[in-house]
This record gives sequence, structure tokens and C-alpha cells, in this order.
Amino acid sequence: RKDGYKHFMLKEIFEQPRVVKDCLAGRVDWQKQEAVLPELSAMPVPKRLHIVACGTSFNAGMWAQHLFESWAHIPVSVEIASEFRYRDVILNEGDVVLVISQSGETADTLAALRIAKEQGVPVVGLCNVIGSSIARESDVTVYTQAGPEISVASTKAMCSQMAVLLLMGLAWADRKGLLDDVLRREIFGGLRKLPDLLEAELPRIREEAKRLAREYSTAQSFFFLGRGVGYPLAMEGALKLKEISYIHAEGYAAGEMKHGPIALIDPKFPTFAIALNDKFFAKVKSNLEEVQARAGDVIALTNPNSDLSVKHKWVLPDCVYPLSSFLVLPALQLFSYESADYLGKDVDQPRNLAKSVTVE
Ligand code: M6R
Repeated sequence: RKDGYKHFMLKEIFEQPRVVKDCLAGRVDWQKQEAVLPELSAMPVPKRLHIVACGTSFNAGMWAQHLFESWAHIPVSVEIASEFRYRDVILNEGDVVLVISQSGETADTLAALRIAKEQGVPVVGLCNVIGSSIARESDVTVYTQAGPEISVASTKAMCSQMAVLLLMGLAWADRKGLLDDVLRREIFGGLRKLPDLLEAELPRIREEAKRLAREYSTAQSFFFLGRGVGYPLAMEGALKLKEISYIHAEGYAAGEMKHGPIALIDPKFPTFAIALNDKFFAKVKSNLEEVQARAGDVIALTNPNSDLSVKHKWVLPDCVYPLSSFLVLPALQLFSYESADYLGKDVDQPRNLAKSVTVE
């Protein structure tokens, strides 16, 4: 049921405040400010983590890499499953393979899981669908609890994956004694308020997405740029736009622009940037100045009072790093949604795609 929404995708985007709440329910001890993931407590903290996934789930893994490294000091590689499975990946004792899959049925991700198991490396599966192949075959299964996702374009699933991955990072950091009090207070304080903040902001985000989608509806191509956690979000923004509106879009690490892609910039090739008030801001800003110097239009997701001069400043409320990502994500999703809807595309069933890719 679409519950009055025009499309499942829209409904699922608007479910995200509830999804975050459900992901946290029973998994956070608010008193002690601790993440509680009993699924993981029986296994040692990984010495090295190999995250393997496809599509949007891969982007969630790329996002989480930053948190696992900086909070829990775990070396992390993130791999596309169809590549991982055909490489001679070196897996050592103490390594853990973390497969991420909404459906739990993606053929390449399942194959990667089986390779890891054959080599005797423990596999943690992060899945949404209960009893799916990946959920059944993983040594440890952690559920995202996002509820059924009907739209082919994955939205709330990524939000739920990010929420659980964030808790994993906190839990592993805590077990290694690496979580300091300031970070603990900031993150758990922010997490507690996150569902309400999202709920309050989503209608405003949608309005701005609609306005910009109309203004840019004739664009043939887009760059999506970001740094740090903004880079996987940029890749996700580009993936969503391609997938449902069929507008060509490329997600790039902003620092890579001058190594070739900036040659494409002209007044008809807009750039969508993630330029939040975090440690990456100054660098992203300077990359955007380079785009503007080539007469490129810039839309930037940013925060109030950010020192940024671009054609469209899309201001999101201040929110602690990295929880701000949970506001960026629906902004990107809604921009794609509104673009596709305005262009009359079949939002929930884009051409050439299936919800779960069970053949390689
Ligand atoms: O079910 P999975 O998370 O394993 O699916 C992975 C991708 O096929 C999936 O995320 C795909 O990229 C989506 N259609 C993106 O919106």
C-alpha cells in the first residue's frame, strides 16, 4: 500500500524517521550511551574488515569505512562484490568479511560471502530481508529492520544500513576502549534527536527538491561531488538520478575533478555538491570555485552560515558529523524523485532494472 503517496519510493523516503527509530530501538543503551549489538558480541573485533556489496549497499559500505577507521581504528577495504569474487583476495586470520545487502539475494554478494566462508573467514551479513540467502548463510546476521522496500530505487534501506553500521562502529570502538566522552556525548545526543529532526525537515527538503528538479529538468548531465563521507553520498546521489530519471550523472570525489573530469564543465553541465560544515568544507569549497571558474552552475547542500557563494545554496540544519549524512541522503533521494516524476518517468519500476539482481 502506498498510504496516499504517489509512489512507493516517496513513501519509503518519508519512512526514514521511523526507520532510524526502529534501527536504534533496543540497540542503544541511552543511560550508558552505548551501542548494544548482541549479534556481534560473540565475535572478536575484526583486525581487518572487508566490506563487500553492490549498488546502494556498496555506497553505504563506503560511507561506513570512515567511521570504522576513525572511531574503531579498524583497517577497512570496500569492494564491489562482482570484483571481489573474481580477485585473488588475500584474507588473513582475524579478518572479517561484512556483506551488505538489502534483499539478501544479490548473486555477486552471495558469491563473495561463499568465497569468504570457504576460506574460513567469518562473515557478518547486514540484511533487510529476514530469512534471505545472505541472512541464512552468514555466520552472524544483523538485520536493518527497515521493513519491506518495494521501489526498485533503494532509499530507506540505505538509511537503515547507515544507522546500523554507525552503531557497529561505535560498538567496536567501545570494545577497544577508543570512544572518548566528548564523541560519545555528541553522537548519542545527536542520535536521540535524529528521528524527530528528520521528521520535521523532510517536508521542507521535499519542497526545495521539487523547485530545483524543475529548474534543472533540461540538464543532460550532472556531477555529484563530495569528500570524506560526502563522497559515497555523492555517488549515491548520482546513482539515484541515473536510475530513475535517466539523466546522466557521475559521482566523484571532489578532489579528483582536476584530474580530468573538470574538462566537461560548461554552463550546461551542472554540479551538485555536498559542502557541509565539517572538516571537509574548505577543500570542497575550493573545488567548487574551480568548477565556477569554468562557468559551471553549482547546487550545494550546506549548512546555515556556511561561507559559500554558489548559484543554489540548499541549506540543511546544523547537525553533528556524521549524522548530517542522514539529512543529505533524503535531499539527494528527493531531488532524483522529483526530477523523475516531473519528467514523467516510471519512478517505482525504472526501465531495465529489477529489485534484486539474482543473476550475475
Ligand atoms: O539488495 P541489495 O542491497 O544487495 O541490492 C544491491 C543493488 O542491486 C541495489 O542497491 C541497487 O543498486 C538499487 N536499485 C539502487 O537503488
